[in-house]
Amino acid sequence: MKKEAKIRPFWYSDVWLFPKLITIVTSLDRQGRVNAAPYSHIMQYDVMAKNPRMIVGFRQDSHSFQNICDTREFVVNCPPADYLDDMMETARFYPEGVNELEHTRFTMIPSLHVKPPSIKECPQIAECEAEEIVRLDKSSGIVIAKIKALVFDEELIDMGREERIRRMNLPIGLGDEDRQDYFHTTLGHITMHKLGETPDGFKGGEVRLGMAWDADALQSLMTIPPMVRKMVTDQTEGYCRGKGDDKVTLARFNAYAAEQGMTPELLERFQKKKAG
Ligand SMILES: Cc1cc2nc3c(=O)[nH]c(=O)nc-3n(C[C@H](O)[C@H](O)[C@H](O)COP(=O)(O)O)c2cc1C
Repeated sequence: MKKEAKIRPFWYSDVWLFPKLITIVTSLDRQGRVNAAPYSHIMQYDVMAKNPRMIVGFRQDSHSFQNICDTREFVVNCPPADYLDDMMETARFYPEGVNELEHTRFTMIPSLHVKPPSIKECPQIAECEAEEIVRLDKSSGIVIAKIKALVFDEELIDMGREERIRRMNLPIGLGDEDRQDYFHTTLGHITMHKLGETPDGFKGGEVRLGMAWDADALQSLMTIPPMVRKMVTDQTEGYCRGKGDDKVTLARFNAYAAEQGMTPELLERFQKKKAG
């Protein structure tokens, strides 16, 4: 039997179980004072490499949100599970102007492209600049931010995903009870599941072309993962129309792909995956 649960304030934490990324956002106030606090309402935005963005949801009266409104820049630092106590320390309601990191084992290091510091102990970091700030009525402040840099511990960059997952050991937030007891889990058993193609997927059954494509351009299109194939088709055709073409050639396809950060090497990687 199923039963409807009561929707209470903080339903997304208390009622609905929503496993989340744990991050510590660092920012600066107008006087240049550091602030740090955990934030989990975070989402990636825009799949293409040209304009990568993050969306983060803040309490409007939080120091982090006020700082971002004032100084625009912030850093999303992902701490490993061994630092959960320190992460919780930064969640305390310290007065304005207090650098929460000074009450933890975390070490501040300069960021590469923004003024707020990064946290050395965090293996994965996103340096961000607010692009759009939306103050939802009587609710959160939503920050849509441009990612200026994704920064990792050096040895992680070329590591295979499974080893990287284990090495980073990022905790997963499991919400809280009454804003007091915060639950987390850490890595245990990891599974991997292959995403299968529909029987006709690779033949492009779902792709509808709006204009003529050269055979070699079409062949390249079909190497792109199915979930973005339609978007790439529409965008490439829009690009060609913008150039006054009535046909997609391989040269145009490659030029547009390169503009979007899809280099021939990246496309080749997809082809190898298919073959393997
Ligand atoms: C694991 C965790 C995740 C949190 N995520 C968010 C969040 O996404 N949005 C938010 O407004 N507050 C979140 N909080 C609460 C803030 O971190 C907390 O209110 C903090 O004191 C705000 O600090 P600040 O005023 O220095 O920004 C979270 C707290 C914890 C412990």
